[in-house]
Parts: sequence; structure tokens; C-alpha cells
Amino acid sequence: MDTTTNTYLAGNFAPVTEEVTALDLEVTGMIPDGLDGRLLRNGPNPHLPVERPESYHWFTGAGMVHGLRLRDGRAEWYRNRWVGAAEGFTPNTNVIGHAGRTWAIVESGPPPVELDDELESLGVNGFDGAVDEGYTAHPKRDPRTGDLHAVSYLWAWDHLRYTVIGTDGRLRREVRVPVEGGPMVHDCAITENHVVLFDLPVTFDLDAAMVGTTFPYAWNPDHGARVGLLPRDGDADAVRWFDVGLCYVFHSLNAHETPSGDVVVDVVRHPRVFDRDRLGPNDGATRLERWTIDPVAGKVSEETLDDTSVELPRHDERLLGQPYRYGYAMEAGDGFAHGGAVKYDLQSGTTERHDFGAGRMTLEPVFVPRSADAGEDEGWILSYVYDAATDRSDVVILAADDFTGDPVATIHLPQRVPFGFHGNWVPTAG
Ligand SMILES: [Fe+2]
Repeated sequence: MDTTTNTYLAGNFAPVTEEVTALDLEVTGMIPDGLDGRLLRNGPNPHLPVERPESYHWFTGAGMVHGLRLRDGRAEWYRNRWVGAAEGFTPNTNVIGHAGRTWAIVESGPPPVELDDELESLGVNGFDGAVDEGYTAHPKRDPRTGDLHAVSYLWAWDHLRYTVIGTDGRLRREVRVPVEGGPMVHDCAITENHVVLFDLPVTFDLDAAMVGTTFPYAWNPDHGARVGLLPRDGDADAVRWFDVGLCYVFHSLNAHETPSGDVVVDVVRHPRVFDRDRLGPNDGATRLERWTIDPVAGKVSEETLDDTSVELPRHDERLLGQPYRYGYAMEAGDGFAHGGAVKYDLQSGTTERHDFGAGRMTLEPVFVPRSADAGEDEGWILSYVYDAATDRSDVVILAADDFTGDPVATIHLPQRVPFGFHGNWVPTAG
């Protein structure tokens, strides 16, 4: 099969073919003692051969999770496993720990798949029935309560669905917010009092669906672009919408409220997507923007915070929905080319870059606090890093507060981990 005509099947986008288990991995440097848990991630990894590789869409490959188990300064194991049944589309976008269990998740319909601690699939399980019609890849865990707040969509729905799932895994709240045109809603944000909704111009394309396109969503500027505020305790008729400039946002970095009542949401802004490139998110450089929503004036001010083209932004999630200072992201250039990692200091307005070395490209960087009571930025940045020279990957641990310094530890994996989407550090319970 010639996969080179499709960016998303070439190089380190290409799937790996084996499920691997490796024990007691080789480490350069010292793994911090306090890291006790699993670094999990998920991404598309289609089974070969891919039918019609020239039209394969990156978002549609079967899910594969990768995990690294750290404990007592050792890298105990690395495992990768396909998610769910051996064939077909399975949750491929994120993997989370919640209520002491592990779930692979995705937007647009397929319900979550529960995994065991060693990444074997236990079966389709929408939080024991809470979300059996589908979920999202981006639930937001309220650090004050542990609840998961999420906004889900499905092409067949005439609404967005806001759900809250408690720490017991049960559905606590559901609000259906009407929307028109079938927008693709990849992410949301929460603040102390609001849910931030994105209704942006990538919409369901019925014509594309009718001819069997695997990913029937396309850039549609006629749809307009707006951001909504749903009071966390309000009903759908309490939503207020505010126009923003035409763009697409896959990811918010974080959001918070100001003392004057404005809602601030920081986003990675794409000028457009699924227009020139219908197979992946590659229609021009991104930038980090701050949208300040003034609910009284009914206006949004849009400010560029940094013009480095990035994706997959993260922050210290103990500050999710609250004022914060630091963010982290991976570079994502033309062709969704991966590179170094960046760290934003939103207070000083400065950006640092970590270069992992020639031919070494990071995936999404994840922040892990050094301890429960450590300050913001007092922790580690963990990421899977692909090395083109060896065609393998490492997990690299940086000190977040020495971002440009040498890695604290590099854990050498037996194979490469393809470019994918999201993952999390899941600390050992108890
Ligand atoms: Fe995402």
C-alpha cells in the first residue's frame, strides 16, 4: 500500500502494527520519586490495510491507547492496545481516569470504552449508562468537586448536550441547548459560574455523508461564529450568544471570570479548517488568543496572546476554570508538523520553547504537579517524544519551572508512539 500520498498515514502519523508489552524500561536521568501513576494517551491507529488511503481522514482511525506506568522512580511498563473491538471506529481521541476507572473517549456518537488498568478493553460503557448516545473527548473536571462537565454533539441532534457526571460516575445534570446546522463542537470551557459553548463554522455536510465520506464535516463560513455562555445552574433558555470572528477552535486552553464579571476564554484559533485540507486540521497557522466576553455590553474582544502555531494546549488542571498564569502546548506547523513544546507565561506575556533536539518531536505536553499543595508551574511536563533518527519514541520529563533546561528523565520505549491526540496522567488511586 502506498500511504505516502496521505500525510496522515505517513511518517509518525502512520499506524503501528503491533500491541507491545515492555517491562522495566531503560531510563536516562532520574524519574522523580513522587510520580506514581500512568501516563496514558490515545490516537487514531487504523488496522492495515486502510481502505481508500487517499481519502483516509485522520480523525476516523480506530483508537489505540499507549500507557507508561511509573512508580518508585522506575518505569515499570509500557503497553499499547487497540481500543474496543478489533475492527471499525472506536474511541480514538482521549483517555481519562474517573471514579477510579479508565475510559477511552471520543466525540460525535460512539460511547466510551472502559479499559482496565493495563489498557485491555472491558467493553463499551458510557459511564454505566449515563451517556449512551455519545460523549466528547473533552470533559472538564471541576477541581473543586471532581465532577466532569462536558458538551457533546451528534449530527442527528438539533442541540448541544451539556452533562455533568459526578465522582460516582452517575449523571447529575443534563441541559439540551438548541443549535442549527449541525456544528462540530470539539471542546468547551467552564468557569466558576458558566459553561462556554463554541458554535463555529465547521458543520455537518449531508452531501458528503451521502457519498460515503468517512468524515462528513466541512468549513462552512455561512454558518457564522459565536460563543455562548450557559449558566452552570441554568436552563437552555438562559444561554447568551456572542458573535466572534470567523475561525475554528478545537481547544480552549482555560477560562475564568474577572472581578467585573467578564468571562475570559483562551483558545487556539485556526483561521479555518477542513476547507483546503479535508483530511486533517491543516488550513493555516494557529495562534493563542484571549477572548474576553463582556456579558453586559454583549461583546467579545479578541486579542492575540502569542503567534506561535501550536495545538493541544494544556495547563495546571488544579486551576481549571479559575485565574491562572501558565499554559503549555506543542508546536504544530504547516502540515501539522510537530516540533518543540512551548510554555506561556500569561502574566509576563513571555513564551519559552523547549527544543527536544534534531528530529525529535513532542506530542501533547501534560502538566503534573509535584505534590497536591505545590504552586502553579511547580511540577513536571510529561510528553511522548518521537525521534525520527531511531524511529522510536521516548517519554521525556521536564521540570515545568525549568522549561528550557535539560530533561529530568528520558524513558526509552521499544517502539514509536504515533502522533495522536490527547492523554492524561492518571495517578494511582489512594
Ligand atoms: Fe481535542
